[in-house]
Amino acid sequence: CGIVAYLGHREACPIILKGLHRLEYRGYDSAGVALLNGELSVYKKKGKVAELENFLSDKDTHANVGMGHTRWATHGEPNDVNAHPHYSTSERIAIIHNGIIENYAALKTHLELQGHVFHSDTDTEVFVNLIEEIQKQNSCSLEEAVRLALHEVIGAYAIVVLSKDAPNQLIAARKGSPMVIGIGEGEFFIASDATPIIEYTNEVVYVNDYEIVVIRDGQLEIRSREDVSQTPYIQKLEMELDSIEKGGYPHFMLKEIFEQPRSILDSMRGRLELEAGHLNMGGIRAYEQKFINAQRIIIVACGTSWHAGLVAEYLIEDLARIPVEVEYASEFRYRNPIITERDIVIAISQSGETADTLAAIELAKSKGATIFGVCNVVGSSIARATDAGAYTHAGPEIGVASTKAFTAQVTVLTLLAMIMGQKRGTITDTKLRELMVELETIPAKVTKALELDAQIQEIAEEFKDATNFLYLGRGYNFPVALEGALKLKEISYIHAEGYPAAEMKHGPIALIDENMPMVVIATRDSSYEKVVSNIQEVKARKGRIIAIVSEGDTVIPAMAEYVIEVPHTSEVLMPLVSVVPLQLLSYHIAVLRGCNVDQPRNLAKSVTVE
Ligand code: G6P
Repeated sequence: CGIVAYLGHREACPIILKGLHRLEYRGYDSAGVALLNGELSVYKKKGKVAELENFLSDKDTHANVGMGHTRWATHGEPNDVNAHPHYSTSERIAIIHNGIIENYAALKTHLELQGHVFHSDTDTEVFVNLIEEIQKQNSCSLEEAVRLALHEVIGAYAIVVLSKDAPNQLIAARKGSPMVIGIGEGEFFIASDATPIIEYTNEVVYVNDYEIVVIRDGQLEIRSREDVSQTPYIQKLEMELDSIEKGGYPHFMLKEIFEQPRSILDSMRGRLELEAGHLNMGGIRAYEQKFINAQRIIIVACGTSWHAGLVAEYLIEDLARIPVEVEYASEFRYRNPIITERDIVIAISQSGETADTLAAIELAKSKGATIFGVCNVVGSSIARATDAGAYTHAGPEIGVASTKAFTAQVTVLTLLAMIMGQKRGTITDTKLRELMVELETIPAKVTKALELDAQIQEIAEEFKDATNFLYLGRGYNFPVALEGALKLKEISYIHAEGYPAAEMKHGPIALIDENMPMVVIATRDSSYEKVVSNIQEVKARKGRIIAIVSEGDTVIPAMAEYVIEVPHTSEVLMPLVSVVPLQLLSYHIAVLRGCNVDQPRNLAKSVTVE
């Protein structure tokens, strides 16, 4: 979910609506605003922010204080009633909430006995009634009531609270869900991330867990849950406004796919110094010995980041000879894993807010492992929870389906594996030098792969009505096959599966007939001959083959129906290039099917619930 709030001298509603549009990638089941202007008015609607905007067009929205929410449903189906903000029973207090209150059922029963009336199925409505009840019982200020309520709720939250009895006041708090405050000239902004704030001010404060924010009388105050005043740490935002706008592209996803030469370069900048022959990564410096002596590396992540983790498994084992395990964060955290102080846990996350990944980190930390983060969002919860880390410099990724974040993650992990190999002496100087030279050519090779766009669009036309797809790859290209399949299902709703090409014989081969499109990644590498045999097996069963091959391949064009030639590179670096046509293929198929590419149904960019 995304939250945004404003208090200042301007009209709050337009600022909030614009902010909600910027945050819509975080969830878009329903949206709502609350405005405080003598009265406390709540307006909300199922569906996109645009629908809320229409609904508001004939309403009096004049107010200088307000808040808004765009929702990704957890408790209760997406409808007008379950949308945020939620009123308390007296309708004097309203709340917006991102996160989950786990003990809401018990609290609700208790509050019902006290006479509170509930209209929705949400945990959030329980939260706001709890605040109201506490305020009534203790005859205390809103701020105090919020603070006491936080002691009773279990779960994750980023909340903003408005009360009719506290005009010109915003109270906010967080635990586990992100929150950033923008400080302008006599005005304040609160949001889930900096995107709604950036065009007004670049001074921000990232709120920490268990902190309560009070904006009142033109002042910002941050207090702990124990009511101790904290000194806000004001940071300068480095984000550019045009990095969060479409810049002429029809969709953010396409813009982000095309930004990859740049984002890969940005992720290498200062780390790969070819002329000097140096590799640097500031983040590992303090933990160098730990890395050198690591007995094992455990990678935890979700979704696309987990696929980047799989590529890293090949890289690290290959170049640095340390055993690697790649885990779904959600499984790892609940299965009593064996972790020791000699393990390094690498957590990969674009948003830096994924709840399961964060919980996996906390678990590993409690067992004494060293935690290294690979995050894209600066100042995010995961970036702050880790011992050390390296940011991917992909810039804001808005399209829900991750593209440039993936290649940036793989770039950083490649550099990390190379540095570890160098320090551990498991890679020769010659090999390292070769890889450095090759890595530097990757942005240009990705640019070339992007030139395939028109050809891929034609292929998409041909296959847009397929109901199933199989993606096959081996070695370094196996995770790419998984990622290609994930991209397709996320945005086009076509069922797709990624498989190691040889494993196909143990199941998926049964699915092959003349209607089954197979995307086979068959670039020239150590398993090339084997993949060619796999292609023969598919062909013999009349499957329709779309092959991704290295430039100049003369063998596969004779077997495949469609051939997409990508620039050749070292096997180790191939995922950075071979994933690009797969991103474009899913993009074009989704567009041709009329799907909402940037905001696919049911998904959210940042999953802050488990
Ligand atoms: C969601 C997104 C995916 C993303 C995954 C992990 O499912 O829709 O695109 O890969 O979360 O997110 P993270 O921010 O931790 O990389």
